[in-house]
Amino acid sequence: MEFRHPIVAAPMAGGPSSTALARAVASTGALGFLGGGNKTAQQLTEDYRAVADAGSVGVNLFVPDVANTAVDPVRSQEQRSERLAAFREKLLPFADRLGVDIPTVEQAGADVSDDWNAKLAAADEWPIVSFTFGLPHPEIFAQLHDSGTQVGVTVTTVTEARNAVEHGADFLVVQGPEAGGHRSVHDPLAEPENVPLLDLLDAVAEVVDIPLVAAGGIVTPEHVQEVLAHGAAAAAVGTALLLSDEAGTNPIHRKMLQEDRSGATQTTRVYSGRVSRSLVNEFMTLEAPAIYPEVNTLTVPIKRAAIAAMDPRSTHLFAGTGYVQARTGPAAEIVEWLASNRP
Ligand SMILES: Cc1cc2nc3c(=O)[nH]c(=O)nc-3n(C[C@H](O)[C@H](O)[C@H](O)COP(=O)(O)O)c2cc1C
Repeated sequence: MEFRHPIVAAPMAGGPSSTALARAVASTGALGFLGGGNKTAQQLTEDYRAVADAGSVGVNLFVPDVANTAVDPVRSQEQRSERLAAFREKLLPFADRLGVDIPTVEQAGADVSDDWNAKLAAADEWPIVSFTFGLPHPEIFAQLHDSGTQVGVTVTTVTEARNAVEHGADFLVVQGPEAGGHRSVHDPLAEPENVPLLDLLDAVAEVVDIPLVAAGGIVTPEHVQEVLAHGAAAAAVGTALLLSDEAGTNPIHRKMLQEDRSGATQTTRVYSGRVSRSLVNEFMTLEAPAIYPEVNTLTVPIKRAAIAAMDPRSTHLFAGTGYVQARTGPAAEIVEWLASNRP
């Protein structure tokens, strides 16, 4: 896998990674990305076909627990229903305030596959696939390689990096704790490590020999230069593109990223059951169990209603630590600016 341009548009499911954003980024020669999580295989296939002529565009997939070799099936099932039921109770005041119903625990657990098999079956059309949230079995890598697909894995530790290479990864996205949105910790029950991106990059570069894409807190050309100097083949930027014209970032998310000048971000499991970083709000005071995607499904109506009401108190406002420096304007200009100190 070769990275000819120093910038990669980090995949951002849930709206921001629109087809317009992937097109705009790919048109500069950088690698665009579609966020395939929480989309059907059919939708994702259509989205990819809509951008396939634009340049290089990758497809990012969430690895569900059933396909994640890092999941301990016994531990992850312990008291699942009880813990979800207790969490659901805590959600009721938020649901009442917005006038919405939330699913039952049973409904939340009804479909946890994220259309995984259908997405893998569709992947032979996609030249680049990246996995987040876990590490599939080596057979999956072999299957994708057979159809000529290059496969990346987002890793947050040296051990995850080693394992990903052993399973057949062609490149790694090394994600530091500065990153906006979800951490791609492979074991969903593990707490994320806090090794800063540059140190993590150094440590991973010592043990693996495939291209590394750095992610987390990269919002200026200087940051891009830093990660390249630490051995990265490219820099993946998420937050830096959230305010671009083409991003599908929802209006309340855009508004708060621009209005909240505190620079403060925090991590929480409340939005999905997995750890994610965002601007600080009331919802994040709730403790949530490490049960993905059920916590996500339970909170969807609250998040949707809050977005519709432009109420920042109970929707995810994903942001990396560098969000204050994120720019508005055409994505291609932001990408060119980020790459502008290119040697
Ligand atoms: C709004 C948002 C949504 C995200 N969704 C995904 C996703 O669907 N898949 C993924 O692998 N990473 C996702 N991430 C993480 C990014 O791919 C990337 O690791 C992160 O944005 C890098 O840190 P930065 O935001 O400081 O640039 C998301 C990040 C944000 C901000």
